[in-house]
Amino acid sequence: MKVSVVGAGYVGLVSAACLADVGNDVVCLDVDAGRIRILLDGGIPIHEPGLLEIVRRNVQAGRLRFTTDERLAALHGDVQFIAVGTPPDENGSADLRHVLAAARGIGRYMDGYRVVADKSTVPVGTADRVREVIAEEMAARGVDLAYSVVSNPEFLKEGAAVEDFMRPDRIIVGADDTRAVDYLRELYAPFQRNHQRLLVMDVRSAELTKYAANAMLATRISFMNELANLAEDLGADIELVRQGIGSDPRIGWHFLYAGCGYGGSCFPKDVKALLHTANQQGHELPLLRAVELVNERQKQRLIDKIVLRMGENLHGRCFALWGLAFKPNTDDMRAAPSRVVIDALLARGASVVAYDPVAMEEARRLLGSRQGLKYASQPMDALADADALIVVTEWKEFRSPDFARMGRQLRERIVFDGRNMYEPAVVRRHGLEYHGIGR
Ligand code: UDX
Repeated sequence: MKVSVVGAGYVGLVSAACLADVGNDVVCLDVDAGRIRILLDGGIPIHEPGLLEIVRRNVQAGRLRFTTDERLAALHGDVQFIAVGTPPDENGSADLRHVLAAARGIGRYMDGYRVVADKSTVPVGTADRVREVIAEEMAARGVDLAYSVVSNPEFLKEGAAVEDFMRPDRIIVGADDTRAVDYLRELYAPFQRNHQRLLVMDVRSAELTKYAANAMLATRISFMNELANLAEDLGADIELVRQGIGSDPRIGWHFLYAGCGYGGSCFPKDVKALLHTANQQGHELPLLRAVELVNERQKQRLIDKIVLRMGENLHGRCFALWGLAFKPNTDDMRAAPSRVVIDALLARGASVVAYDPVAMEEARRLLGSRQGLKYASQPMDALADADALIVVTEWKEFRSPDFARMGRQLRERIVFDGRNMYEPAVVRRHGLEYHGIGR
């Protein structure tokens, strides 16, 4: 099938590459010429395991092309995916500027029936606005072509995006007409494997499903973080509690890890946007508001522990910080807890030597050369002059460090483990002082 994807970010690029990989003829459009340049030069603009290989393979096979030409993309795909960013605006609602601009581009040049499928996370009701702007563009050039607007939210996780796209738990299609559903059924047939994974529903339910999924996951995390803080006062271990409740199939194992808060491009933004949508309808959503509040506090939790242990004034103190990305296997630092920790330490006069396997370039871009902030090229190098180590992201390579060496290098021999990566007893056996979350 001929497919166009508007947006070459996480969602767009992964979708375009994976759809090409099963034999579709895909054009991927981005208005950012720099981004398209990188792709045309054989690179990818994001860090995502496995993605470069798929992109290269399909470009070589002639099934995947990149362009900044709106007309080319609008004329190409029978299915037109909109997969552009929806950053929060000042009041927390999703900014639809890019989504509507993408829709206008399609309406301006399409020359026959199109299925316009929204993959961006957009507030309920956005499909109606997409439909309107396409109609406006066609009216402006005096044509009246048939088209369908459907909601097809994406659930992929950064760091596992290719796998998530290739082997989805479910494919949500929100459509108000069957013609569009037939196209998407055919397009997604190779990803169904042995089960029917395509769930067809009305457009608004599909739009809400995406927010509901992320809000539910964020709720689980904040719930566990809240309990973790209580466990500390009660002398209980949240890790054992997690295992105790996760074994109940009604609860399940996933997303029960207490830590220093959730970050990333989705949870913080989508929780805010859902709260905003609810407010517009006259609803408070007190539970979800608490989820957000608990998470904001949790990002401060490591700082509270450091201050409690080492005092308010951290002048002259040096901290090694492991992990800048909001989670492992990505260089994404959007809403990353590391940023809150770094800001707070620098503000208190401390210096920080940070290490991350892939996000240091991104950190330099975002944080610039801030006084007191340095980067180490190896994890152990970060410890050279440090009083204490702070672990913020649970990268695999941090899992089994040389604790004996750590003990020799850290001046105060203290470990603040924001992701409960280590067994407290093991760390203590090496003569280090251990502070986890909820243990
Ligand atoms: C999320 C959703 O999982 C995905 O379905 C959606 O499409 C986009 O948003 P992503 O933001 O890539 O994906 O990351 P995810 O792996 O879900 O982690 C989000 C944050 O929660 C990270 O900061 C992570 O460290 C944190 N987290 C996750 C916890 O603190 N505890 C957990 O138990 C799980």
